[in-house]
Amino acid sequence: MSNPSLLILPGDGIGPEVMAEVRKVIDWFGAKRDLAFDVSEDLVGGAAYDAHGTPLTDETMAKAQEVDAVLLGAVGGPKYDALDFSVKPERGLLRLRKEMDLFSNLRPAQCFDALADFSSLKRDVVAGLDIMIVRELTSGIYFGEPRGIIKEGNERVGINTQRYTESEIARVARSAFELARRRGNKVCSMEKANVMESGILWRDVVTEVHQAEYADVELSHMYADAGAMQLCRWPKQFDVIVTDNLFGDLLSDAAAMLTGSLGMLPSASLGAPMGNGRPKALYEPVHGSAPDIAGQGKANPIACVLSFAMALRYSFDQGAEADRLEAAVEKVLADGVRTADLLQAEGETPVSTSEMGDAIIAALDAGL
Ligand code: IPM
Ligand code: MG
Repeated sequence: MSNPSLLILPGDGIGPEVMAEVRKVIDWFGAKRDLAFDVSEDLVGGAAYDAHGTPLTDETMAKAQEVDAVLLGAVGGPKYDALDFSVKPERGLLRLRKEMDLFSNLRPAQCFDALADFSSLKRDVVAGLDIMIVRELTSGIYFGEPRGIIKEGNERVGINTQRYTESEIARVARSAFELARRRGNKVCSMEKANVMESGILWRDVVTEVHQAEYADVELSHMYADAGAMQLCRWPKQFDVIVTDNLFGDLLSDAAAMLTGSLGMLPSASLGAPMGNGRPKALYEPVHGSAPDIAGQGKANPIACVLSFAMALRYSFDQGAEADRLEAAVEKVLADGVRTADLLQAEGETPVSTSEMGDAIIAALDAGL
């Protein structure tokens, strides 16, 4: 049997640096755990634009459809700010999500004990935090039509459309309920049913799916603005949060910060099962391309490494190996190894991106 295949798209900014550390981890699993992958690498975002004049070529898109999983670093940067909207680096990522139909975006917010004091919230509010935001990723206002900037009389009007079909809501709700069953068995659905028709439909469909198929799971509803407030007030009340594309974008950044650093959080974007039973899948850190520190060896590779752990768990049925990798990261943090984003006191010396990668490899070795 051939090895499972991985397409690596490092992208822009710190993407290539953090991905280099993930390559070390992938190689380690091949060498030490008999878990080899066929890895290929390609361009996305600004890097692809520089080489080909488009943020994602058709060839790369086709490859992404064929592999067992895609690992992406980050896209974007100030260099590309003036580009036409249609060829901006972000369009490459959005095309991958849309054409692979990755409707369920899993964004865990987990607070590592060693970093609990690092959050801007009090330790007891965040210590032990383990929540999962399930963000709808292929519809809603990100993709709805009509959209554009049009002329009305002598002024311009910007238009975007929030649009959800019942089936789009139902499938992401199912994926949230399924996850909840394997965790704390609670789902909180967030929308703005008080002002948006799409929110009313969202609430109805989530309730229907719950009653018909998942009555054993505890379901609650919250307006998304109140949800943002509750996330800061007492985040441990949540287990799984399911929400739409735009609210999920906002709420997941807020949740990420609860844990102390954006540099820590992975994500998985999952679609329907392929012929081999594996879901279409793309894994990426929640953080962006951080152009201000790119190329300086300062970036924290942990979010990207943990994204590979999610790939082991959700694409390759290697939950125990994912646990092993997460434990190695936890050990490194407990040992006080810190990249620059994780420094707390004056005078602490950060390790570089590649030193953090090496420390994770050493922790993996120590765990054998
Ligand atoms: C994210 C990012 C993206 C989004 C951008 C880069 C298009 O903010 O993954 O959260 O808005 O979805
Ligand atoms: Mg975002």
